[in-house]
Amino acid sequence: MVGDVHADDARDDRNTRRGETPPHGTTPQEVTLPDGSVMPRLGMGTWYLGEGRRPFDDEAAALRAGLDAGVRLIDTAEMYADGGAERLVGAAIDGYDRGSLYLVSKVYPHNAGRRHLRRSLEASLRRLGTDYLDMYLLHWRGSVPLRETVDCMERAVDDGLIRRWGVSNLDLHDMRELMDVSRGSHCCVDQVLYHLGSRGIEVDLLPWLRGRHIPVMAYCPLAQAGRLRDGLLGSAAVHEVAAAHGFTPMQVLLAFVLHQPDMIAIPRSGVPEHVLANAAVLDSPLSDAEYELLSQAFPAPDHPVPLDME
Ligand SMILES: NC(=O)c1ccc[n+]([C@@H]2O[C@H](COP(=O)([O-])OP(=O)(O)OC[C@H]3O[C@@H](n4cnc5c(N)ncnc54)[C@H](OP(=O)(O)O)[C@@H]3O)[C@@H](O)[C@H]2O)c1
Repeated sequence: MVGDVHADDARDDRNTRRGETPPHGTTPQEVTLPDGSVMPRLGMGTWYLGEGRRPFDDEAAALRAGLDAGVRLIDTAEMYADGGAERLVGAAIDGYDRGSLYLVSKVYPHNAGRRHLRRSLEASLRRLGTDYLDMYLLHWRGSVPLRETVDCMERAVDDGLIRRWGVSNLDLHDMRELMDVSRGSHCCVDQVLYHLGSRGIEVDLLPWLRGRHIPVMAYCPLAQAGRLRDGLLGSAAVHEVAAAHGFTPMQVLLAFVLHQPDMIAIPRSGVPEHVLANAAVLDSPLSDAEYELLSQAFPAPDHPVPLDME
């Protein structure tokens, strides 16, 4: 583990090298993880991609449009399209400098133990056409004990197959249990459902994670194009903020998530124009007043609620 000072040094050094001091008025593009490394805050999701709903080449072009616009993080999983999403990502990133990309994949819970994790990981790497992942996640909690999954993850780190690991869909109770496992504190993110219309994590999980500097990777940040919460896209508050920024309501949903500087968001799109619209959100951050307007229109619950999942 690297202390905060060291992590800040690493960030300053990187920004200086690339000459990328964020211009005034933009949100930070990266977040610092518990291991001191940095991770992009905006990525591209891939659930439902690679399933043949749209032509393969069109979906690959959408991901490439994002990469060309500077979106370097791609989130995928062995589950998505039964490996098809990883194959799509592998095709999309072909020809790009691997070092400039940030690839995240996930292992099924039933594969997250001694017998199967390594095989799953190697299959993901083959489909992606790479020899390491930047981050590997336990997709959700199953029957394999957390300590066994952590052991396997740590071994994969030691062997250079993954740079770091995290979890997904773990609630506060699960996270506390994880921290009691040897090297469980090496967990770098918790990927959970979070959008303007589903803010339950703000009651308990999010403050707890913040206390440990473990960022949230927000999945379904667009509420699946508004489908997950009635009234979201038609809301007067959303439209008011959209008009002020020249945004679509969908961009406002993403901007709401990204207003919180320690949140990572991974909207998914198979359409280049949508990917570019999502990428543009980082350049036009919400004011605190706009954030409050949205927040009041769709308040977080005032009591703990079960973790929302898709
Ligand atoms: N860990 C987990 O258990 C878990 C669960 C769910 C999701 N995830 C991850 O999180 C990612 C995001 O979640 P999600 O895919 O469920 O939903 P989402 O990103 O909230 O919404 C995706 C939907 O929004 C549309 N869209 C995207 N950008 C748009 C734009 N700028 N304008 C208009 N429409 C837009 C997409 O359609 P078009 O293709 O037509 O643009 C698609 O229908 C997933 O892809 C996956 O990588 C993880």
